[in-house]
Amino acid sequence: MNEKIIPTPGDREEGDGHACMSRRQFLLAGGAMVTLAAIGLPGEAEAAPLHALKAAFPRTKIGSLSALKKGVPIDFAYPYPNVQNILVKLGARAGGGVGPGQDVVAFNQQCTHMGGPMQGSYKDAYQALGPCPLHLTTFDLTRHGMVISGHATESLPQIVLEVQGDDIYAVGVQGLVYGYAAMTTKRA
Ligand code: FES
Repeated sequence: MNEKIIPTPGDREEGDGHACMSRRQFLLAGGAMVTLAAIGLPGEAEAAPLHALKAAFPRTKIGSLSALKKGVPIDFAYPYPNVQNILVKLGARAGGGVGPGQDVVAFNQQCTHMGGPMQGSYKDAYQALGPCPLHLTTFDLTRHGMVISGHATESLPQIVLEVQGDDIYAVGVQGLVYGYAAMTTKRA
């Protein structure tokens, strides 16, 4: 749509005759586009590369693509025997997702608020983990474990995955598992 911009007393002109864009003109002509560029378009959020600290751990096979059923999580321990996680095929493209549909993700199952156990709380209708049994936090597994609602302020730690052929490997942890001072050390 071509919109004619009518100059107002506040609009200035430069010496070469080209109009200098006033704040009003900027808002009318370009501000909306700049805003769109800044916030991104719908559906782009999960596609953007995530720059976050990750702790690398030994590459460990935790499952296979062919054995996974959509919406049916599998429990596994990583990187330590007492750190319990789920591997799940969401059926929707997810941040950090692997596999042909980029929909296979893995997350720690301890709530980041006060360590509430969330085993068995996966809700396939929402691709969410929770609510936590202690204070009801729920986490979005399509968006790197971001908090949907509840008391927690930190995202759920995501297990970094790689796929080789049909095999799924855990290779690191993104985020801090509740109760650990750092993911490179044993429980404090
Ligand atoms: S421990 Fe999970 S919400 Fe408080």
